[in-house]
Amino acid sequence: VLAVDVLAFARANLPPPPVRVLEVGAGDGELARALAVAGYDVVPIDPEPSGENVVAVPLHELDEPPGSFDAALAVVSLHHVEPLDESCRRLSEVVRSAGTLLVDEFDVGAFDERAAAWLLGQWRTFGIHDERAGRAPAEIVDDLRAHLHPIERIVEALSDAFEVARPLRGSYLYRWDLPEALRSAEEVLIGRDELPAVGARFVAQRRS
Ligand SMILES: C[S@@+](CC[C@H](N)C(=O)[O-])C[C@H]1O[C@@H](n2cnc3c(N)ncnc32)[C@H](O)[C@@H]1O
Repeated sequence: VLAVDVLAFARANLPPPPVRVLEVGAGDGELARALAVAGYDVVPIDPEPSGENVVAVPLHELDEPPGSFDAALAVVSLHHVEPLDESCRRLSEVVRSAGTLLVDEFDVGAFDERAAAWLLGQWRTFGIHDERAGRAPAEIVDDLRAHLHPIERIVEALSDAFEVARPLRGSYLYRWDLPEALRSAEEVLIGRDELPAVGARFVAQRRS
């Protein structure tokens, strides 16, 4: 389910339509569909698409003309992308000079045992991911850190070609297969410094 806040982030920070937009790691294509309805010419890609509108290709193999996108966005996908540097280079080639890049991320570098314990507790409450929900928080942290790119690494891979603004930290756990109503509970705990802010967002601009 597309989080309301993600569509708002995209609409508020993309240039106004009509513009050509690449969506990296589009999954089921729901965000791309919402943006298309709003007048954007969206090309959603994903090596393992689960929506009919999504083109089955990994970012580093994308075959599009240089500078052919006015903007790109990636929603919790760059932390999975392999190979990261080559993929970010390909992204920089297809986005035009001064084009916009929006990144919405889960920062595994900020995800600690407190965050894992809260997430697993919510999954147990709602009967989600039964097998994973029974595991120890430390095990989940180690597992995720072993195979996801942290936000610093993503910023580093983009920085040669993009002017990257400092990531803004915020909530994210409520979007991990949980009811959206948990957003305020997560944000109350972040505000009390009882949970880390594992969400991270930034806007970047393609250098000339
Ligand atoms: C956590 S899912 C997010 C999907 C969607 N953006 C959403 O918010 O629901 C991460 C997505 O990144 C995709 N992905 C993994 N490697 C990729 C690559 N090399 N190029 C593009 N997308 C990739 C995965 O297939 C997966 O659909």
